[in-house]
Amino acid sequence: MTLGKSIRKAVFPVAGLGTRFLPATKAMPKEMLPVVDQPAIQYVVEEAVKAGLTDLLMITGRNKRSLEDHFDREPALERALELKGDTGRLDAVQHASGLGPIQYVRQGEPKGLGHAVLCARQHVGDEPFAVLLGDDLIDERDELLTTMMDVQARTGGSVIALIEVDPSQIGAYGCADITAIDGEDFVRVNSLVEKPSVAEAPSNLAVIGRYVLHPAVFDVLEGTEPGRGGEIQLTDGLQTLAAAEEGPGVYGVVFKGRRYDTGDKLSYLKAVITIASERPEFGEDLKSWMKGFLN
Ligand code: UTP
Repeated sequence: MTLGKSIRKAVFPVAGLGTRFLPATKAMPKEMLPVVDQPAIQYVVEEAVKAGLTDLLMITGRNKRSLEDHFDREPALERALELKGDTGRLDAVQHASGLGPIQYVRQGEPKGLGHAVLCARQHVGDEPFAVLLGDDLIDERDELLTTMMDVQARTGGSVIALIEVDPSQIGAYGCADITAIDGEDFVRVNSLVEKPSVAEAPSNLAVIGRYVLHPAVFDVLEGTEPGRGGEIQLTDGLQTLAAAEEGPGVYGVVFKGRRYDTGDKLSYLKAVITIASERPEFGEDLKSWMKGFLN
């Protein structure tokens, strides 16, 4: 692998059980939950495409069909809209399938995010690649992925995205111990711990769902034992890379922009309301209705 090789591949792990969102996610992946008028995963695929990633791979599991169908053509529906002259909706329907060919690999059992990433090994090969979680949305007005890709090209390591959270919330995330690098807008990651207690947490910097990884992560994940929750954790694999004296290290970009978590019920509701209230077609109406509702 050469330093600075441009990144083409995006991996979207969408095979989790989505237990925090049951029963809605009993028969449907949580990444398919609508955020206003499109499934959460579509925002994430759009983000990857906008960042220039052209080789798209989803790691799917049970109930994968709705995901594949969403990003595929739907000729009968398209014909019906065409006949009605409903070009607005026709464009919206065709947009999802036009995002590019997406390939699918099945994770036989949801053994954790680290295991899901490992399922991409054969497809990705020996080049750096991006991982985007389908329940974490980054506002399209904010740059994150391209900044991370740039840091990967400059350092040759793996790059994670971090946000500052209230210390009491850190136990819901992976947490990073970092060192600032003089003159740089990214940091060195010294160690990582998955969902620490408040007392154990080395910082209030939480790992969010964007990664640009060195392929060395695959060998490490092969040897990573199940960790928290009995799952093979990507955080544990990255901790091994961060702690290694030699080899590509781990770096972090501290993101200060807008992020919407759709993985649990309350965060999802907040995400939908925030994004809907900015829609030109009904945002103002929604906000004035909310004012009345709150009164
Ligand atoms: P999460 O832990 O947020 O998802 O994993 P989950 O396990 O589906 O949800 P809860 O915690 O039970 O509510 C982060 C991402 O990794 C994927 C999920 O689909 C999600 O996008 N994932 C997780 C996999 O693809 N496979 C797994 O085995 C676990």
